[in-house]
Amino acid sequence: MNPSFKKAFVCGWPIAHSRSPQIHQFWLKQFQISGSYEKIAVKPEDFVNFLQTIKADGYCGGNVTIPHKETALACVSRTDDAATKIGAVNTLWLEEGEWVGGNTDWLGFTANLDECAPGWDKPEKLERPAVILGAGGAARGIVYALVMRGFKDIVLVNRTIEAAQRLALDFSLPSPVVSLSDLDQVSGDLSLLINTTSLGMDGKQPLPDSVVRLIGRVSKKTIASDIVYIPLETEFLAKARHAGLVSVDGLGMLLHQAVPGFQQWFGVKPEVTSKLRNLVISGIEGHK
Ligand code: ATR
Repeated sequence: MNPSFKKAFVCGWPIAHSRSPQIHQFWLKQFQISGSYEKIAVKPEDFVNFLQTIKADGYCGGNVTIPHKETALACVSRTDDAATKIGAVNTLWLEEGEWVGGNTDWLGFTANLDECAPGWDKPEKLERPAVILGAGGAARGIVYALVMRGFKDIVLVNRTIEAAQRLALDFSLPSPVVSLSDLDQVSGDLSLLINTTSLGMDGKQPLPDSVVRLIGRVSKKTIASDIVYIPLETEFLAKARHAGLVSVDGLGMLLHQAVPGFQQWFGVKPEVTSKLRNLVISGIEGHK
């Protein structure tokens, strides 16, 4: 094989529906880079071996997705600050023959808002509460992102209050956490309202009434964002749009989180363009 040919991957279980190959293959073609990016199904019990095999097979790096993100953190020789604090790795690369793990999900979130809601982290926004629905793995990345951008009042809302309490403690968040059933107590004067739960994914599971009521009473300046991107406009985002809020979909986060990985492996910083976005959207719509 051509020695300059570079191989990267995305691994997960299941992996069939990953959009990452489409994104990276688009950029490989755009920059005429001699390289590949493929999806590889890896069962949880095979992940540790997989990391060894893939190194021997000449891969220079790749993405890690559900359910391997936390295991990857424990398997690499070093992690960047974000992966360490978030507790999950989504991007791997080799340094002197050893796997290094980083987390670019939070960068995807911030870059998406920078693009779609410029000014979202202006000084006056930082003082108002940012409400995060959910306290799972995805929420950890968003909390990290908001802390990095200077948000002071980050309110975690979750069905299971204990999970929110643990997350708030990990990041030393000063604001009290809120149970989903107590959401009516939260003030509507917000800067951000972010859904990190799986509610709305694939159009299943309707939004709880308390979330619908919150969307209806938040300040019109609130920016609503969802990390779910199938469907592209979730019930959460549709309700936010009808309420007159700026709403930012989750596809942008997926596209932007891919930028640093591509740059790491292939040496070129790509851009998220509407052409790429439309390509991925057509793939999503083709598989409905
Ligand atoms: P991820 O890594 O994608 O964040 P996760 O760790 O399983 O996935 O977290 C899913 C989040 O969605 C959790 O906050 C979960 O709430 P619980 O901690 O109470 O489980 C939330 N979630 C999932 N289904 C939900 C539902 N039907 N109603 C409310 N919250 C839900």
